[in-house]
Amino acid sequence: MSEIVLAIDIGSTKVCAIIAEIEDGKVQVLGHGISKSQGIKRGVITNIELATKSIKKALADAKRIAGCNINSAIVSISNAYAKSLNSTGVVNIPHKDISIKEINRVMQTALYNASVPNEYEVVHVLPYNFRVDDQDFIEDPFGMNASRMEVDVNIIMTQKSNLSNLKKAVRSAGIEIDGIVLSGYASAIATMDPDEKELGIAVVDIGGQTSNLVIHTGNSIRYNNFLGVGSNHITNDLSMALHTPLQIAENVKIRHGNLLESSNEIIELPIIGDEENRNGVSLEIVHSVIYARVEETLMILAKMLEKSALKEQISAGIILTGGMTKLKGIRELAQAIFTGMAVRIGYPKNVDGLFEELKDPAYSTAIGLLLYKAGYHTPYEINFQQEMLHSKSGHEDNLNDIKIANTVNEVSENKAMKQNTKFSSQENAENNDSDSPRSFSFEDLPDIKKEKGSTIKKLTNWAKQLF
Ligand SMILES: Nc1ncnc2c1ncn2[C@@H]1O[C@H](COP(=O)(O)OP(=O)(O)OP(=O)(O)O)[C@@H](O)[C@H]1O
Ligand SMILES: [Mg+2]
Repeated sequence: MSEIVLAIDIGSTKVCAIIAEIEDGKVQVLGHGISKSQGIKRGVITNIELATKSIKKALADAKRIAGCNINSAIVSISNAYAKSLNSTGVVNIPHKDISIKEINRVMQTALYNASVPNEYEVVHVLPYNFRVDDQDFIEDPFGMNASRMEVDVNIIMTQKSNLSNLKKAVRSAGIEIDGIVLSGYASAIATMDPDEKELGIAVVDIGGQTSNLVIHTGNSIRYNNFLGVGSNHITNDLSMALHTPLQIAENVKIRHGNLLESSNEIIELPIIGDEENRNGVSLEIVHSVIYARVEETLMILAKMLEKSALKEQISAGIILTGGMTKLKGIRELAQAIFTGMAVRIGYPKNVDGLFEELKDPAYSTAIGLLLYKAGYHTPYEINFQQEMLHSKSGHEDNLNDIKIANTVNEVSENKAMKQNTKFSSQENAENNDSDSPRSFSFEDLPDIKKEKGSTIKKLTNWAKQLF
């Protein structure tokens, strides 16, 4: 069955809305709209009214080109104010058969066990290692026989206030949010090859005002970080150094920006505040201003990689994507700075109907959102709506009754309940309403195996016989 989807990437310099049709995991772009960002600084909404205006404009163009109406969207959220933490979940498998239900249960348990700060909301829960019956590094536990399963997950979360402003801006544009994806994750989905995923890769999206870094190893994103620097900083530097208006500095950057070679050609530029008169500027100065900013940015990103403690696991090297990577020579400079690592520029994967304009590193995030929606996410994932995503078709077991913690608030509430598991779980058994957000089955209880002969175990067995 086909589905019409809308993806909105809210960047610091442009908002991009794309409408596409998705059928059996295939994406067909129908229309897109791009508008200049307003009310968005360094990846976050700073003025809801202006941001709404930008979204509306991009949306109107996309709808006009696609010739269809749609009022829900999957939206990107910047790595700014995003954090991640690792957690582990353990469950018993009473029937010894691992189905989607059990995988969901172990991931929900890992989420339940995590100490998510109150002011944060979970965006992705990504498993990076499964263990079944103490057998480590299981790639996919689905269909295996075991009596116990463990999972290590990376939980990506973002500050609630930041998320709430994003929601408000999108809703004010008349659009309901049906998915939120970390922008760095979306860019990674759009640019990584299967081999690179397997070998481990870092993806750095350098846009207008931000640099978003994610590291993908094994099955999932293991690390994300953010730097509030992008190509607009080069423009500002040029404007200041050359005493020329910002728009002229931007044109100089695009036209003459070249990290590989400089020339002593002189260009005439208007002077800021006195645009009647012109200044002669050597391209050597242009080169050194741009070089200094890019070198510094890449060096900070290289330090982030070191700090991630995952550098050893990045065998495939680095993908650079985002608008700034169109700068001539950036790959070569990055290659010299990220010593010993292969560097390539990441263009978004070619999907059907892709307009020429979108075949550009600046649109990796937007295309990644569509691919996420088409199923190119981590093999198992708990998404922003706390739903389990997976690619095993025909295994849509009723997963609603396995939401141990539906919202982050409930995670902390449930934590408080943890002390009282004996009583609260009894309550849940009596009140087993699958729509109830806090409901969970007795099999959901974290590793009861360890509690030999405990009252809980007896109570659980007794209750199981009853229901
Ligand atoms: N040839 C070029 N050389 C250098 N920078 C460029 C070039 N072409 C475009 N850019 C810059 O790319 C930036 C836009 O990139 P992109 O669209 O990826 O940003 P964004 O997604 O809006 O912002 P962010 O991801 O930081 O929130 C602009 O600052 C633009 O000047
Ligand atoms: Mg961007």
